[in-house]
Amino acid sequence: MAENIYPIFDRTLTKEDREKLLNQRSKVIWFTGLSGSGKSTIAIAMERELNKMGKLCYILDGDNIRNGINSNLGFSEADRNENIRRIAEISKLFVDCGVIVIAAFISPTNEIREMAKNIIGKDNFIEIFVSTPIETCEKRDIKGLYKKARKGEIKNFTGISAPFEVPNNPAVSIDTTSIELKICVEKVMSTILPLIKE
Ligand code: ADX
Repeated sequence: MAENIYPIFDRTLTKEDREKLLNQRSKVIWFTGLSGSGKSTIAIAMERELNKMGKLCYILDGDNIRNGINSNLGFSEADRNENIRRIAEISKLFVDCGVIVIAAFISPTNEIREMAKNIIGKDNFIEIFVSTPIETCEKRDIKGLYKKARKGEIKNFTGISAPFEVPNNPAVSIDTTSIELKICVEKVMSTILPLIKE
């Protein structure tokens, strides 16, 4: 805990003021699922869709987080915890800005997702489980990482040599194996739209 640091209580503008400006309610749409399950693909399509509707969103995923602020972290249990802790704190700031966050991270355990939810606040955290099974993800192997993990060239690979726990109570579950992207996006949108509209 930081010492001698005091929060500012008398800010004149609130989250609600910023939300009003943007004509939306800010939430974190948190995608969890295996590597290659389709999290970022759905996230990108959703941002486009919401943008067309005049909603300001921002995607947080491995590309902008693990290459930047979290570039000093790997995939040990401790590093994954720290990865998600920082992402949740960043998300919380975005939510205070009035922006809708679309976060796409494996976030492999119930404990790690619970931590994210507690940091962000349960009312602002919407969990979407991309439940695509490992067989599909491995067959896709877009980044060639499953092949490497099977050969033992990557340690602690989620689903192969590190655990993935199925979420207990996600707002939506989608298996992208045989559902086209448009339908996946529609499914998530129907759940989140009532929550983000003013
Ligand atoms: S998390 O477990 O800490 O939430 P995160 O979503 O940030 O993971 O990063 C996952 C991405 O990192 C994967 O999609 C994959 O491209 C890459 N990656 C590299 N090493 C691993 C590993 N050991 N386990 C899982 N993903 C890995």
